[in-house]
Amino acid sequence: MENTSQRTNAHDAHAPLDVLILAAGLGTRMRSRTAKVLHKLGGLPLIVHVCRAAAALSPRHIYVVVGHQAEEVEATVRRELGDEVRFVLQKEQRGTGDAVMAARAELENADATLLVLSGDVPLIRPETLGALIHQHRTHRGRGAACTLLSVRLDDPTGYGRIVRDEEGRFVRIIEQRDASPEERQIKEVNAGIYCFETRQLFRALEKVQPTNAQGEYYLTDVPSILRAEGEDVSVYVHADAREVAGINTRAELAEFERLLRMRTLRRLMLEGVTIIDPVNTYIGPDVQIARDTIIYPNVHIEGRTTIGEGCTIYPGARIADSLIGNEVTIKDHSIIIEAEIEDGCSIGPFAHLRMGAHLAAGAAVGNFVEVKKSRLGRKTKAMHLAYLGDATIGERTNIGAGTITCNYDGVRKHETIIEDEVKIGSDTMLVAPVRVGARAVTGAGSVVIRDVPPDTLVAGVPATVKKHLRSEEEAPAAQSSSERDAVGRDA
Ligand code: UD1
Ligand code: MG
Repeated sequence: MENTSQRTNAHDAHAPLDVLILAAGLGTRMRSRTAKVLHKLGGLPLIVHVCRAAAALSPRHIYVVVGHQAEEVEATVRRELGDEVRFVLQKEQRGTGDAVMAARAELENADATLLVLSGDVPLIRPETLGALIHQHRTHRGRGAACTLLSVRLDDPTGYGRIVRDEEGRFVRIIEQRDASPEERQIKEVNAGIYCFETRQLFRALEKVQPTNAQGEYYLTDVPSILRAEGEDVSVYVHADAREVAGINTRAELAEFERLLRMRTLRRLMLEGVTIIDPVNTYIGPDVQIARDTIIYPNVHIEGRTTIGEGCTIYPGARIADSLIGNEVTIKDHSIIIEAEIEDGCSIGPFAHLRMGAHLAAGAAVGNFVEVKKSRLGRKTKAMHLAYLGDATIGERTNIGAGTITCNYDGVRKHETIIEDEVKIGSDTMLVAPVRVGARAVTGAGSVVIRDVPPDTLVAGVPATVKKHLRSEEEAPAAQSSSERDAVGRDA
């Protein structure tokens, strides 16, 4: 592991730090119509992982070189980092050296330390980059012109190799395709992560020629050019090869998915979460879970999800971008997306909560119940076979099996309001817009097309008032003539 104690503030007494991320390539080896850096790892595009690591260094500017699917890459980065990031267009992909050249106008007079990263190195940690920058700036007391990050690999296939002289000093980087059989034996490889002083970098880049097997302008030629000019080139040897590995194929993407997932699961377990079977549990890197929550196998938790203490999440649940309180039980095969669930709720099995579903404390939603853009008040229950959409439901209300808020008239969506302590009978159709007053009861199979006054029993198709549930003295508010008319007593 790198020595994090060496880490230094990127700004102290040195040239300012800029970051340049190369993300213009198609990534041919992915065999995809989608640019490589847009492929997702832990639910986030590769380029976003790299941008986050860069942003954690608080550099002066972050530049991203875009080319293939430039618009999509730009939009993806902007969504994550806003307008902090600047974009440079590499019109034709003529190699990593050419990609850096595309940023020349922006950078060559910047007098900065430039950290160059590839958009396909998603597991890189800011601490490692900080240590690289530190070595670069303190090399021989005056700093180096270039510092590159290397790792030793048992199988170095595909990577540029680091050639050193007899004294172990850096000589050059040789790409796999251009390497001799002897050079291919070298196990120390270039990670594609470098620090440069900008003026020296662009002076050397001018001398790079595309005289190699790929006919490309290689950034990897720059260190040896600088060395030939008598500049200091330093190598930062990093111990964790997996952290700096680049993704080039889908097989590598899957391997990294596993690594990132294990990193997340280990973090959560150390924070006090019980994960019964980590190998079969899928939790994204941004998920937060409080202690004593138990996660059963085959659970997927994604996006920006936060889960409180003492929850139990049973097999097959998928939860994304949701806020879940303490002591919540989520039973098997429930789907919860963009929902908020307060303390002590019970969900599922086989429930579907989506887009703005909000359950107040102690509410319960059971088998085959779908909730969309609806709020269920405290201790309200909908235990079987219901659709609740665009509804606001009060406290301690019971929604019977088979209830449907008929919220869509084919053109527009309409709201249903159900007040406190209502009993919606089985198979009630609530034709929105409609309001059901407090303590009202609907009979089984009712089709409610007009507002139901409080404290009444309605039934039928269409539903009409069959009975007042409290006397006039007890509940005068429920007896106004307008409310009686609302359910069409004469029907
Ligand atoms: C590169 C290095 C290699 C190193 C490896 C580490 C070169 C010549 N080789 O090889 O020494 O071991 O990374 O992972 O640099 N890109 C552009 N424009 C281009 C070409 C590439 O922006 O014209 C971007 C790609 O989108 C990618 C990055 O540069 O994010 C690296 O390119 P890639 O093709 O993956 O290089 P490697 O063959 O992996
Ligand atoms: Mg690569």
